[in-house]
Amino acid sequence: MMPAFPAAILLAWYDRHHRRLPWRVSPADARAGELVDPYRVWLSEIMLQQTTVAAVKSYFEAFTARWPSVAALAAADEAEVMKAWAGLGYYSRARNLLACARTVVADHGGRFPESEEGLRGLPGVGLYTAAAIAAIAFDRPATVVDGNVERVVARLFAVATEMPAGKPDLRRLAATLTPRTRPGDFAQAMMDLGATVCTPKKPACSLCPWAEGCAARALGAPETFPRRAAKTVRPTRTGTAFVAIRADGAVLLRRRPPKGLLGGMTEPPGSSWTELRPGGAVGDPAAHPPLPAAWKRVAGEVEHTFTHFHLRLVVMRAEAAAATPAPDGHWWSPAREVAGEALPTVFRKVLAAAGVDTSVSRNR
Ligand code: ADE
Repeated sequence: MMPAFPAAILLAWYDRHHRRLPWRVSPADARAGELVDPYRVWLSEIMLQQTTVAAVKSYFEAFTARWPSVAALAAADEAEVMKAWAGLGYYSRARNLLACARTVVADHGGRFPESEEGLRGLPGVGLYTAAAIAAIAFDRPATVVDGNVERVVARLFAVATEMPAGKPDLRRLAATLTPRTRPGDFAQAMMDLGATVCTPKKPACSLCPWAEGCAARALGAPETFPRRAAKTVRPTRTGTAFVAIRADGAVLLRRRPPKGLLGGMTEPPGSSWTELRPGGAVGDPAAHPPLPAAWKRVAGEVEHTFTHFHLRLVVMRAEAAAATPAPDGHWWSPAREVAGEALPTVFRKVLAAAGVDTSVSRNR
């Protein structure tokens, strides 16, 4: 009997409609002899964890221009990698990235392992990433399940179990779809189908190569899959940040502790962040400025949403005399170097609120 969702039909769709992505070798180019570079596949998969394709593209181009091979990356300075990663978020990924490059060079002769098990032994490479690299870089029949694939599978089979409890079912069902031929293209086709056709809110079922057999579509409500338990609301935290600007435009910065949220990244000094109760005042009235100066509150506030909480910051700004020494653990970052510092997005917002330009130039 013909399977309900033949891989060949999805692969034919992928041949025509795949997204052109900087880390991808298109099917026609592969047929013409272009080889997949496991380094680029690995780098893209690490960058794409928790981050959108649109956000990753320019970082991927910048990293591969600067560090074109795993050996080049392995030889990089950690501070430089953190600076280049700044803005992508989830910074432990950047530290693992470097640790992984160094492991591949030191323990594997500069070549990535080809099996899922071998790949899973590398720093920062979990179940998903190992499967993705095995499939895309080495054409192994691994089942690659990310959020896009979960949504596609939940709809094809109208899986009624709520997420996250239904995830193991989705993985099992996804495995039944994975073909022995072109598993790498199949994995990418599933991702593209989820990203461009089987989208979260308004799936374009009329464009879907598998629409005929799709159980959620037959039920008339594809967008209600996957089912989810009611969301818990994100708490809000608050604090105060201090932006000191020297007469020559240098900005006072410090490093965050190595562990924890945004660990090891750079920030302007500020208070710790505490829970904001309903009706409570934004900011930390007891926050200590890093140096004595005429501190003025910047109008408005800075908001940023992290995975587990929303943040509202009061920003204080002061001008410091040219010879003001940096307090212990701080440094003055010269005006033209601020944008290149390892500043996460939330702190770029803080500096921008205080009138400091931190836009990252394209050719860094
Ligand atoms: N998301 C995660 N990995 C991806 C890939 N290889 N192609 C497109 N989107 C992705």
